[in-house]
This record gives sequence, C-alpha cells and structure tokens, in this order.
Amino acid sequence: MQLKYKSYWRKSGLKGKWGNIFLERLSKHNPKNVLEIGVFCGVTAKNTCDFLYNSNRNNFTYTGIDLFGSNQSDERDENKPNFLKDQKFSNPLKNIYYNYILKENLNSIESVQKLLKKYSQNIKLIAGDTNKVLKEIDLQKIDFVFLDGGHSYDTVTNDLMILYGSMKDQKKVILCDDYGKESYISEVEKAINDFTNKNNLKLNLIENRFAEIIT
Ligand SMILES: C[S@@+](CC[C@H](N)C(=O)[O-])C[C@H]1O[C@@H](n2cnc3c(N)ncnc32)[C@H](O)[C@@H]1O
Repeated sequence: MQLKYKSYWRKSGLKGKWGNIFLERLSKHNPKNVLEIGVFCGVTAKNTCDFLYNSNRNNFTYTGIDLFGSNQSDERDENKPNFLKDQKFSNPLKNIYYNYILKENLNSIESVQKLLKKYSQNIKLIAGDTNKVLKEIDLQKIDFVFLDGGHSYDTVTNDLMILYGSMKDQKKVILCDDYGKESYISEVEKAINDFTNKNNLKLNLIENRFAEIIT
C-alpha cells in the first residue's frame, strides 16, 4: 500500500514528510483500534481512518479526544497552536472559504465529524480535557495511541500514567509527538523521560521527533 498523508486543505500538526513518517509507524504496527489524543482539525484522524479502512475494511475503531473548545481543568499552559486563537491562514483563499463562506471552526467536534463522515460507524470523538476524561474511557481494546494533546509536564504525565495503566505488558504502542529536536518541547521530553525511567520502559526515538514506547 502506498503511504501518502493528505492535508485535506486543513491545518495539521504533521506537515510535509512528518505525516508519511506517522503513517509508516501505523503500517509497522498494523493496529486495529487507534486513539489520538489531540485531534486538532482532524487531518491525522482522517489519514488514520483511511489507513485503517485500507487494512481492515470496517473492522477498526478510531477514538479522538480534544478540548474542542471546552474548558481545560485549570490554567495549565498547554502550548496551544496560535492558529486556534483566530483561525488565521497564510492562504487567503482558505481564509475566505473557512472564515467567511463556511464560517466553520475547524477545531470543533462538528467540523471533524463532517470530515470523518465516511467512517461514522467506526469513530468516537470526545470533547474534554484528558486530565478529566481519559480515566473515564475504556482503553482495553486500544492498540496504538498517538499522544499529541496537552503539552505541559503534568498533562503528558497524567496521560501516560492512565494509558500505561491499561496497556502495561501488552506490547501496545504509544507514539508521542514533540519529543526529539525536530519538534522539541522541553516539558514533553522531561515528562516522557521521567515516566519511562520510573517504569523501566524502553523508548525508540523516531526520526529525531517522535518517542515510541512499547508497553
Ligand atoms: C498539536 S495539536 C494536535 C495535532 C493533531 N494531532 C494533528 O496531527 O493534526 C494539539 C491539540 O490538543 C488539544 N489539547 C490541548 N490540551 C488538551 C487537553 N488537556 N486535553 C485534550 N486535548 C487537548 C488542543 O485543543 C489541540 O487541538
């Protein structure tokens, strides 16, 4: 299968070659049930569903969690993308199309649902702060997580603790963004290092960006 990450005319956290590198990780581990923490505008969600559909037809699930405009639990700084503040685009056509014609907030649950409508039977989108909602979700079936939500030390630690609690010793995959120097966030790196050291977990650095943890 040819792995080609598409942008769907939206903003994505995985620009250029990074989307294809992400798809290569999916292809290597070949999961059926994927969780993405930090859906943003749904581009990685859509590419993930396309990939899962190609490999499994309808026998897959995708779960996505994002604030989607709902309140965070406290005043933690999650390094929000600037784009979210006023949905600005460098491409003026996109600006007109999304802000004046559709008047659509691309980081809303409705907008992402629309993008993923072909897969409506397979997806579950959850609006909320992972510090509150992650512990309420049944994670037993999940075999691959893309961790790309809140980027503060406390949130990354919270998310890893809850994920690992359900995935421990099952050789499942947690792929964390913004760890290596290609897209470095110091609190993310520190939280991942502290967590993996404490739990004696091996970490693979992928292309100097992603930290891949096998549980
Ligand atoms: C870098 S973007 C995710 C990019 C996306 N994975 C992609 O590939 O396009 C981070 C997202 O995490 C969400 N987020 C930030 N803090 C969060 C939290 N505590 N709980 C849930 N989502 C959070 C933001 O709303 C934002 O949409």
